[in-house]
Amino acid sequence: QPIEVTMNEQVQGANGDPLFNPLSPDFIRDPYPHYDRLRTMDPIHVTPFGQFVTSRHADVSLVLRDRRFGKDFVERSKRRYSEKIMDEPVFRSMSHWMLQADPPDHTRLRGLVVKAFTARRVEDMRPRIQEIVDQTIDAVIDRGHMDLIEDFAFRLPVTIICDMLGIPEEHRETFYKSSRDGGRLLDPVPLSPEEISQGNAGNLMAQMYFQQLFELRRRSPGDDLITQLVQAEEDGNKLTNEELTANIILLFGAGHETTVNLIGNGLLALHRNPDQLALLKARPELMVGAIEEFLRYDSSVQMTGRVALEDIDDLGGVKIPKGETVLCLLGSANRDPAVYPDRPDRLDVTRQNVKPLSFGGGIHFCLGAQLARIEAEIAIATLLRRLPDLRIDDVVNPQWRPTFVLRGLTRLPASW
Ligand code: HEM
Repeated sequence: QPIEVTMNEQVQGANGDPLFNPLSPDFIRDPYPHYDRLRTMDPIHVTPFGQFVTSRHADVSLVLRDRRFGKDFVERSKRRYSEKIMDEPVFRSMSHWMLQADPPDHTRLRGLVVKAFTARRVEDMRPRIQEIVDQTIDAVIDRGHMDLIEDFAFRLPVTIICDMLGIPEEHRETFYKSSRDGGRLLDPVPLSPEEISQGNAGNLMAQMYFQQLFELRRRSPGDDLITQLVQAEEDGNKLTNEELTANIILLFGAGHETTVNLIGNGLLALHRNPDQLALLKARPELMVGAIEEFLRYDSSVQMTGRVALEDIDDLGGVKIPKGETVLCLLGSANRDPAVYPDRPDRLDVTRQNVKPLSFGGGIHFCLGAQLARIEAEIAIATLLRRLPDLRIDDVVNPQWRPTFVLRGLTRLPASW
């Protein structure tokens, strides 16, 4: 299997190891020293495969917002795999995601769902979010121990998106089990034929399931996003059936692992910094700002990418030819001392002016950002309040998931 982003023989760190090798165990365990070296030694790093890696806040932020960069998903995938890659169901489906679309398709697709995610709509979900968090804690409180990922962080985002989409209660149990496997689709390393087959199988199953649900909602409409989108599809030229299915799959998956990992990474960071944990327990009003700091300090999405839609003369002093890929290291931008001069590697829940790039920027800015923030706020605040003596078993060597773009823990056992 070809490894697209791997050893760079030309540019190495002081101790001889490659500057950007994001799936190496050391990088997965702690990417931040690697980012420091990229930012200082080679801020527009070129991989042996010709991808441009941006690590400074200014460059990352510019690429995300500058309309000379876009997704160009179909052409990019053909170049990376083969002319026939769009025959694979999983790639065909992804090509319809708003996340991978450029205007005008992106504008049209996002416009159809954006209202469901406004700050006001999300605020109205607070009581339901609180209820789910309380039920999750009720289920384990007498046990004295739990896995903070599986038993605590995981149920909340899945349940909320099921509510929003209108997935009937009796169908949900399968999703609770199956929804943490999609992370590999996002890493900047090509998928193997086996992984493409697995992706196809998962995608086809999801397509079959949602087609049935669409039929149900045509017959008996509900107050949910699927009903809204099915009606938009029936209206004619607003979206096709393929776009409808693909974007429901995107919405279903986009908020799971990302939000689980915001909660998991945040709890780990707090327990590694007991002074900050004590401060937050003593002053719960700091929680809203603390969530921004968790997002900045150890983002659950570490990277996204763009393609140059035209020749770019000067990105940090480097020319980017049309069609080339630029990788944006969000997790590195979030620790750039140029923007966070006061010890960016320190967790500080009272830090001012925290504006992490963890939700991206520009036209693809995360649709679920406010939802994720409120879910994490209520989850972490409730846990600190209801289980004040909770201790994480191993804060030194926790088990990280082996993916790079989605950064999070496999398990995080804790007791009280
Ligand atoms: C887009 C991160 C939670 C739905 C994005 C992007 C990032 C991101 C970085 C932009 C990618 C790019 O520019 O290429 C996160 C993080 C989350 C989170 C860190 C949690 C901590 C959610 C949730 C939902 C969601 C809860 C929905 C339920 C989406 C969608 C897009 C998106 C639909 C595509 C938007 C577009 O292309 O216009 N997210 N996300 N995300 N996110 Fe999130």
